[in-house]
Amino acid sequence: MKTLSVSHLLGIKYLQLEDLHLIFETATHFKEVINRPIKKVPSLRDITIANLFFENSTRTKLSFELAEKRLSADVINFSAAQSSVKKGETLIDTVNNILAMKVDMVVIRHPNPGAAHFLSKHVKSCIINAGDGTHEHPTQALLDAYSLLEKWGDLKGKRIAIVGDILHSRVALSNIYALQMLGAEVRLCAPKSLLPKHIKELGVSTSYDLEQTLRWCDAANMLRVQNERMDLGYFPSTREYSQSFGLNGNLLKKLRKEIVILHPGPINRGVEITSEVADSSQAIILDQVENGVAIRMAIIYLLAAKLNIPIQ
Ligand code: NCD
Repeated sequence: MKTLSVSHLLGIKYLQLEDLHLIFETATHFKEVINRPIKKVPSLRDITIANLFFENSTRTKLSFELAEKRLSADVINFSAAQSSVKKGETLIDTVNNILAMKVDMVVIRHPNPGAAHFLSKHVKSCIINAGDGTHEHPTQALLDAYSLLEKWGDLKGKRIAIVGDILHSRVALSNIYALQMLGAEVRLCAPKSLLPKHIKELGVSTSYDLEQTLRWCDAANMLRVQNERMDLGYFPSTREYSQSFGLNGNLLKKLRKEIVILHPGPINRGVEITSEVADSSQAIILDQVENGVAIRMAIIYLLAAKLNIPIQ
């Protein structure tokens, strides 16, 4: 059996192109499984997975939990709001206590960049990063790339725009790494205040002009403005933001070509994208959600194969 080059999923940065292909191949198999009348396989019957969410989440948390259950793993869920973290317990203590209950794998979302990496160094478990602050969100980038591959077959030479709050986005960085590894060209489009200064060093181009960017690209990934991470005003008002960087039906029509629209969710309808665009046939937002389960099943399955626990 082919295996991943890593034993944790901490970020796309640590993966090789072969890892991406293996994950996509495995996800295609699981996508077929979850579309059967019996959606479950017994593969991970002997594995216990803890989902530790120290930050709010709807989609990612449900998607991981469903992926784990479709693989027949035992699942425990932890959310920081109702835990002893509020009583001053450290991250390592919290996780080691959970591991003492014989947990094999930890899925963690945490507000601090590097939290998943830190855990992988200090606790004896397989760690999957479900988003660490403004740093990486590897499973999101994998499902985004997979959804585009499903449309086009190959990303070589394709032009992908990532639009919006790049500065506070973990989706942006993981997407840049994954798309470039697969041979696509990436352009970032945002107000100057939301584009990190040194981002061009990653080999991407940048623009402050949405219409120009859309004329250039084959697909646009529209990011949400991460208000919860902003401690000061990065643009004058939401209305002005959506006038300059929001995607609406008129703008799409003006292009006279069909581009693919992605969004990681949650959508702020009327801010970065209008309902007309989000619900249009060009948007693959719900495909992304469906593919998210298959991608996460693939990752969990492939990492479990490295644990020396029998897999069915
Ligand atoms: C993203 C996240 O949490 O980083 N959402 C997600 O995982 N589905 C993007 C966002 O919150 O805007």
